[in-house]
Amino acid sequence: MKFTKLLFTIIALAVLIVACTQDQSPNANQAGENSSNTNTNFETAATPLDELAQGKKHYVDNCARCHKEDGTGGPVEIEGEELKPDDLTSEKMKKEPDEEYMEYMKDGIPDEGMPSFKDVLSEDEMKMVLKYIREELQK
Ligand code: HEC
Repeated sequence: MKFTKLLFTIIALAVLIVACTQDQSPNANQAGENSSNTNTNFETAATPLDELAQGKKHYVDNCARCHKEDGTGGPVEIEGEELKPDDLTSEKMKKEPDEEYMEYMKDGIPDEGMPSFKDVLSEDEMKMVLKYIREELQK
């Protein structure tokens, strides 16, 4: 009789513990999922969408003040200087090879007021900017 009571208590405790852990686990899982989602957005550059999104960010941060958000460029005054940034969406610019873009970003065009980005953007980041120009602005 004593043994049965003990057994019953153990089973009851076990049920209680299982119930508690089950109650917590969905929350714990959710938190885990959320944080891993956030991590994917920031850390992996592997998926095409991430590269495009990053390219857009770098474009907006670095190029849009001269070439406009939509890439069409046109005359702007930057720090008192009249510049004529190219229309990156033109047929001419669509045909321009990737290497040209990479060179312009790395070296800039000092005489015309286009700055060099080699100390601002990594090679990979420049490629993402180019990907964004090709796949969104020149679409
Ligand atoms: C301070 C203004 C400025 C910023 C910022 C700027 N550019 Fe330019 N960019 C220019 C100007 C001005 C020209 C035109 C140069 C010329 O007349 O040859 C130009 C030309 C270009 C060209 C065309 C070169 C050609 O004639 O074939 C490309 C490509 C280009 N920029 C890409 C970019 C990219 C990509 C970024 C951002 C990483 C950027 N630019 C940021 C001012 C800027």
